[in-house]
Amino acid sequence: MNISKVTCIYFSATGLTQKVLDLFLAGLPVPAQKKNITPHITEVSYSFAPDELAVFAAPVYGGVLPKPAAERFSLIKGNHTPAVCLAVYGNRDYDDALLEMKNLTEAAGFVPVAFGAVSAQHSLMPRVASGRPDEKDAKALAVFARRAWEKLGDLKELSARVTPQVPGRFPYKEFKGVPFKPAVNSACVHCGACAAHCPTGAISKDKPDTTDHALCISCMSCVHICPSHARSMQPKAALWLAEKVFLLKYGKRRELEIFI
Ligand SMILES: Cc1cc2nc3c(=O)[nH]c(=O)nc-3n(C[C@H](O)[C@H](O)[C@H](O)COP(=O)(O)O)c2cc1C
Repeated sequence: MNISKVTCIYFSATGLTQKVLDLFLAGLPVPAQKKNITPHITEVSYSFAPDELAVFAAPVYGGVLPKPAAERFSLIKGNHTPAVCLAVYGNRDYDDALLEMKNLTEAAGFVPVAFGAVSAQHSLMPRVASGRPDEKDAKALAVFARRAWEKLGDLKELSARVTPQVPGRFPYKEFKGVPFKPAVNSACVHCGACAAHCPTGAISKDKPDTTDHALCISCMSCVHICPSHARSMQPKAALWLAEKVFLLKYGKRRELEIFI
């Protein structure tokens, strides 16, 4: 089949998923448009044509998609449109995230043709998979993109039979969040960058030195974006310990897994 254009829908709180997506796109022979669904939006309206390629990319939180990503993905409409799904995780595991992406995209009118599970630096515990995606990942992602493109080119027709099986179980893992939330110190200049980038509206524009912990999903977006380095995850000692445990348990490098 011939693809007229490539459009990506992605969620990325600290930019790692976006980096992985860019490395994947570098392996495609055509340029792509990107739509960032990370900021706090409730309305997402985009309808894909049958000859478009949709690329969905999201990080993994607790073995599943971040709730706002799943909610926003389900608002995008496919029209028997081929899709590639990328789940980006911090070297522990992606558990049910690819299955969730498969089910979500199929229900929204897409036909997923390829899936990738990509290990990247852990956004909460950055010593885990530190520096990834790296050059080796870049090469693997470009090869994956070329293979997905070739698969599409070889397809006579698009049917559910071309969708590969992916690991995962339904009901998906229940993710109740992590016991770490951001705190703000006196370096805050009330610029509002954190509020503008928060995916859940947990930070108000008028009072950016506070966070609604009930809405916060601990995604690290505010910590990452703050130009004054005024935000940090707390409690620090517990997070430091958790990172140490993760390094011991999940320190072994995991490579790109593809399902095609
Ligand atoms: C709240 C939270 C939960 C996470 N859960 C997992 C997980 O279950 N498995 C894993 O391997 N990585 C996990 N990670 C790490 C992220 O999936 C990973 O760092 C990803 O690259 C972040 O992408 P982003 O920069 O686009 O937000 C988690 C990160 C956060 C903030």
